[in-house]
Amino acid sequence: MKGYQAVAALIIAWFALIGCIQAVTLEVNGGNSTCIKAELSASFSITYNTSSSTRTVQVSLPDSSTVDTGSSSCGTDDSAPWLVAVFGPGHALGLSFSRNGSLYSVTNLTLQYNLSDTSNFPEANSSDVVTVVSDSVGIWATINTTYRCVSPSTFALGGATVTFSDMRLEAYMSGNDLSPTESVCMADQATTSAPPTTAGTTTTAAPAPTPPGTPERGRYFVNNSNGTVCLLAQMGLQLNVSYFSLSQNKTIQELVNLTPNLTTSSGSCEASSASLVLTQERITMLNFTFTLNSTSKKYHLSGITLLANLSDATAPFSASNSSLDYLRSTQGRSYMCIAEQTLAVVPTFSLNTFRLQVQPFEVTTDQFATAEECQMDQDQMLIPIIVGAALAGLVLIVLIAYLIGRKRSHAGYQTI
Ligand SMILES: *[C@@H]1O[C@H](CO)[C@@H](O)[C@H](O)[C@H]1NC(C)=O
Ligand SMILES: *[C@@H]1O[C@H](CO)[C@@H](O)[C@H](O)[C@H]1NC(C)=O
Ligand SMILES: *[C@@H]1O[C@H](CO)[C@@H](O)[C@H](O)[C@H]1NC(C)=O
Ligand SMILES: *[C@@H]1O[C@H](CO)[C@@H](O)[C@H](O)[C@H]1NC(C)=O
Ligand SMILES: *[C@@H]1O[C@H](CO)[C@@H](O)[C@H](O)[C@H]1NC(C)=O
Ligand SMILES: *[C@@H]1O[C@H](CO)[C@@H](O)[C@H](O)[C@H]1NC(C)=O
Ligand SMILES: *[C@@H]1O[C@H](CO)[C@@H](O)[C@H](O)[C@H]1NC(C)=O
Ligand SMILES: *[C@@H]1O[C@H](CO)[C@@H](O)[C@H](O)[C@H]1NC(C)=O
Ligand SMILES: *[C@@H]1O[C@H](CO)[C@@H](O)[C@H](O)[C@H]1NC(C)=O
Ligand SMILES: *[C@@H]1O[C@H](CO)[C@@H](O)[C@H](O)[C@H]1NC(C)=O
Ligand SMILES: *[C@@H]1O[C@H](CO)[C@@H](O)[C@H](O)[C@H]1NC(C)=O
Ligand SMILES: *[C@@H]1O[C@H](CO)[C@@H](O)[C@H](O)[C@H]1NC(C)=O
Repeated sequence: MKGYQAVAALIIAWFALIGCIQAVTLEVNGGNSTCIKAELSASFSITYNTSSSTRTVQVSLPDSSTVDTGSSSCGTDDSAPWLVAVFGPGHALGLSFSRNGSLYSVTNLTLQYNLSDTSNFPEANSSDVVTVVSDSVGIWATINTTYRCVSPSTFALGGATVTFSDMRLEAYMSGNDLSPTESVCMADQATTSAPPTTAGTTTTAAPAPTPPGTPERGRYFVNNSNGTVCLLAQMGLQLNVSYFSLSQNKTIQELVNLTPNLTTSSGSCEASSASLVLTQERITMLNFTFTLNSTSKKYHLSGITLLANLSDATAPFSASNSSLDYLRSTQGRSYMCIAEQTLAVVPTFSLNTFRLQVQPFEVTTDQFATAEECQMDQDQMLIPIIVGAALAGLVLIVLIAYLIGRKRSHAGYQTI
């Protein structure tokens, strides 16, 4: 078995505007090439026992941290790639990776701390080296992309927590530098669309989530294997997700808009089923499945799958329901709903659609066929129809009255 050589690399330290948290660069090498690279700031909150009580200390990953070449590895057939950074007297932070298809993820996060280190753990009544593990981390990205999360993200490991910030990391690297393409965590996507907070304001409370407003409408299509368009869609999409927030220590509900110019579409078209897959920055994936019943000549949206990387959650958010019945329309027609519609998928996830029009079957040109409108649009259209009908009725009454009046006066002339 070939021994991998891991080499501690250059360490960059820089000071954040507030807090003086160092960013550390860590690199694991196998042969001549780099397989894992991480640039990150980390701070740890550790609770330990003293003889009379418990105490919690904050420790940050110092810029003198180095990669432990003995335990780090690029992975072999039976072991996963592992980045182990050591610091101080016997403390260590470990990140283990795995890949599945075109995704890689951090499978577990380990923190080892040495309670004999009295400078960090004064009055500890134990001298043990404690190891804590978190095996649902929720850091994942597409192969050949860099995972980026500038926003702080906190992970609980036993009685300790690890908070990463300014994080850029990549495993299963194909070059020696971080890939320029980034998989951006959800927290960064939310903060980039929000107005930046001014540096002067002190953070007293957790920022109240600002509603993202109506999402922009995107145009998406799917091509056949022979290159012709086979599915058309245009809509604004908003995810409504509930998940356990690590930073707030409770389950929160969040609205997240899809940004059309950061979203790519793909999918497939078959005789009785079609799928539209929307991917935003390689970190949010929405899969719509449409089913056609050739007997009734009706189609509907039968399934929705969501996979989203919420940096503040314990694991990637995933939700799927394949027995839905939404957007029902007739073969050869498109389905339209201008009004906002809520598609409940699972209790923790629903999808809000805005100004939607789709046609998953029998697309012959790049234009939508005649639309069947949703009930809500029809109801909204009813108001002008009623007003119009009332006006038309009024005009008719006036006209009849005039004609009758004219006929009478005409008759009157004749008698004279
Ligand atoms: C590493 O580089 C050296 C010289 O640059 C080369 O001789 C050697 O074959 C390389 N090893 C691997 C595993 O690529
Ligand atoms: C503190 O001591 C109690 C009692 O021995 C033990 O259950 C607990 O795990 C200890 N806590 C830590 C953080 O070591
Ligand atoms: C450390 O202190 C806790 C109480 O704070 C106590 O329960 C525990 O037994 C002590 N452990 C040792 C090794 O003395
Ligand atoms: C823990 O810290 C003590 C004192 O700093 C040191 O003597 C010991 O070697 C450390 N343990 C490990 C496993 O490094
Ligand atoms: C890989 O992903 C697929 C689907 O996303 C899943 O069914 C499978 O269990 C995963 N495999 C591993 C080893 O995690
Ligand atoms: C971390 O995950 C790897 C697999 O990726 C596993 O082999 C290892 O045992 C895990 N470590 C711990 C401490 O759970
Ligand atoms: C990643 O990039 C390398 C080199 O550019 C390429 O050989 C490999 O196929 C890519 N992997 C994926 C999953 O795109
Ligand atoms: C493309 O494929 C579809 C079915 O897969 C077929 O109906 C259509 O005629 C093909 N168009 C061309 C130009 O080959
Ligand atoms: C999270 O909240 C629960 C109760 O809501 C509390 O018991 C626990 O200590 C909290 N954890 C942290 C890390 O604040
Ligand atoms: C996306 O669109 C917004 C406004 O619609 C624009 O400000 C932004 O620069 C665009 N981003 C990209 C990557 O095109
Ligand atoms: C989307 O869902 C359909 C139906 O469940 C499935 O066949 C397809 O593989 C999915 N696409 C992706 C990219 O997951
Ligand atoms: C198709 O529609 C017919 C008539 O509405 C219905 O009897 C049949 O069960 C449907 N088939 C499927 C697969 O849903």
